[in-house]
Amino acid sequence: MVIGVDFSAEMLERARTAAREAGLKNAVFCRADAEALPIKDGSIDVALINGIFNLNPSRDAIFCELARVLRSGGFVYAAELILRESLPPEIRASEANWFA
Ligand SMILES: C[S@@+](CC[C@H](N)C(=O)[O-])C[C@H]1O[C@@H](n2cnc3c(N)ncnc32)[C@H](O)[C@@H]1O
Repeated sequence: MVIGVDFSAEMLERARTAAREAGLKNAVFCRADAEALPIKDGSIDVALINGIFNLNPSRDAIFCELARVLRSGGFVYAAELILRESLPPEIRASEANWFA
């Protein structure tokens, strides 16, 4: 079973459409905050994350929630942008660069 979680209704609709078009029967999607997942303790084998930590200031809470839902020995795979050094102010100030 695959559980897709997002707090955006638009993203959930996109995911449901993609799953339907792919003929997936083992995927469910729910609207929830990553800080309070509607998932049982220790019930997840693998968590796939795309761009959630770099969008949230409360990273500790999200890590704690991941640790709660993952089974012992479970895996987390995350696709995140990580800065190795501070960006120059002119780049930080440009909204276009947030998505570059
Ligand atoms: C980079 S997008 C990735 C979307 C999709 N998972 C994918 O891989 O294409 C990041 C997603 O994280 C969601 N998101 C950000 N913070 C969240 C939070 N605290 N709880 C739930 N979803 C969150 C956003 O709504 C957005 O859809």
